[in-house]
Amino acid sequence: MEKVPYDLIIEIQHKVNIVDVIGEYLPLEQKGKNYFAICPFHDDHNPSMSISPEKQIYTCFVCGASGNVFNFVMNYEKINFVQAVYKVAQKVGINLNYKVDESPSKENKYNNYYKMFDIANKFYQNNIKSVYGKKAIQYLNGRNINNDIIKEFEIGLSLNDNSINKLLISKGFDVNELIDIGLCGKKDKYVYDVFRNRIMFPLYNLDGKVIGFSGRIYNDEDDSKYVNSKESVIFKKGSLLYNYHKALDYASKSHQIIVVEGFMDVIRLYTVGIKNVVATMGTAITKEHANLIKRLSKNVILCFDGDKAGEKASLSALEALEKVGINPKIIRLEDDLDPDEYIIKKGKDAFEAHLKSAMLPIMFKIDINKANANFNDFNGISDYLKSVSQELEKIEDKVVYELMVKKISKETGVDVETINNMVSNIPKKSLKIIDKRVINPKDKYVKAEEYLVYYMLKDPNAILLYQNNVSYLLNKKLSRIAMEILEFYEKYKYINVTDFVCFLEDKTDLINETLRIDDLDLPTKVDDEVIKDYIKTIDDGLVKQEIKKLKLKIKEETDIAKKVILLEKLTNLKKKECK
Ligand code: CTP
Ligand code: MN
Repeated sequence: MEKVPYDLIIEIQHKVNIVDVIGEYLPLEQKGKNYFAICPFHDDHNPSMSISPEKQIYTCFVCGASGNVFNFVMNYEKINFVQAVYKVAQKVGINLNYKVDESPSKENKYNNYYKMFDIANKFYQNNIKSVYGKKAIQYLNGRNINNDIIKEFEIGLSLNDNSINKLLISKGFDVNELIDIGLCGKKDKYVYDVFRNRIMFPLYNLDGKVIGFSGRIYNDEDDSKYVNSKESVIFKKGSLLYNYHKALDYASKSHQIIVVEGFMDVIRLYTVGIKNVVATMGTAITKEHANLIKRLSKNVILCFDGDKAGEKASLSALEALEKVGINPKIIRLEDDLDPDEYIIKKGKDAFEAHLKSAMLPIMFKIDINKANANFNDFNGISDYLKSVSQELEKIEDKVVYELMVKKISKETGVDVETINNMVSNIPKKSLKIIDKRVINPKDKYVKAEEYLVYYMLKDPNAILLYQNNVSYLLNKKLSRIAMEILEFYEKYKYINVTDFVCFLEDKTDLINETLRIDDLDLPTKVDDEVIKDYIKTIDDGLVKQEIKKLKLKIKEETDIAKKVILLEKLTNLKKKECK
């Protein structure tokens, strides 16, 4: 069995649900968001293993066994990591024997496809700048898309002939390959260009390579507004988000990602300087989309079209995101507008006001119920309260719950008490975390290292601060984890604990420590200043350690000249310590 490359491991991980897999081996019991089981890795009598669907991780709080779905199968079946990956792949219908074989040469095999798309992309961009492109440019400018944006998003134009077919054949590409990737079609023996006289929007994969097009009409000659490349081995709509490669950086800097439906919406937001945005391109959000969004940020704002269809799409996106542990906020735009139209009509400020006041899912659902309710009729109010009480049951925070009930009581004229009686499960405590930890000075260095790694697992800023300011950590395991995080981040440009654990494969000691750190009871987000404070403490710790070592050396040194040099070193270090 061959070693499985990381991107394939992630592909499997994104398709499988750890709860289903562990559920095949052990009886599970759901409590709140998580599932519990009797731990099979020690002599357990009470269920002490918890399984988090959000993180796709299991942890036993008694014996400390932990990991992801692959580690579970590996440890339970006593097989090696690679065997476990094959086994899990089989469960989700991925044939790894075939995939791993082609994986090393995948790049090469698809290189021709990438090349063809690249040539087509350049060709289309040239067309739009030529005399043939005048009307298309006029159309785009009329929609407030200026020439800089046309360039930035590499917008082009396909001609009303078979020029792509001819161009690529003349460059030696195989006609069957052209048909495979959907640039050309074939009827009887006649090969023709699929995209004709359309404004061409290139679609990119996660690395920013062109892998397809969407072509839009601009002169109403055809009634299908958009024509898309057909799905191919390199183009799968369900596993890509428009603008992902560009948004990665902006999302990590702003700690937020905005998800819209259309690429025109992305382009509009980008034009007004809101660049942490991706689009689903009109398809329902898949589990893979949800995982990609999670990579960009855990702070997600859904901003779909303001019409009924957009509302429905928001509800289904909400469900998909909740399954991967994301609790997004939602925007409802007025007057049935989509984000592009909204910004053009009402301006950037009005849109940003919406961003600031985006709703919690519960508010959104209650809002929808309200819009559909009939308040003029007692039965209508009663029906409204029945549906709303189901939403109220899901609130976990007491304060949020009370505020909601008061609001609903005011709207309907029904007593708070009566509404409470309709809800079977009223939250008892406030969830707001109050940071009360007082650090024992002896633990200070130990804690600073743990806390720094905790934030490195969540925040690229912390990773960069570590990279630029810290050489190593005193705790050897944490030091190794920090190195692995650096390597992961350098390769993939994002961080989340679920995917990072996949990257650690079968390094069980590091996985257990990573998950222990990830589970620390700390606020999920802090200012850079707090992280810099940890780094300062770590620095002090390293200096203290060096002083200790040096003092020992000086004691043992018999050569006077050498001793003097060491003493000088010590004085310098002590100065550093005082700073
Ligand atoms: N879409 C598609 N095929 C269609 C209609 C839509 O592939 N026939 C996809 C496109 O990717 C589009 C997204 O669904 O970006 C959203 O569709 P829609 O809201 O209709 O398009 P807009 O973004 O509003 O585009 P425009 O403003 O140009 O009409
Ligand atoms: Mn639109």
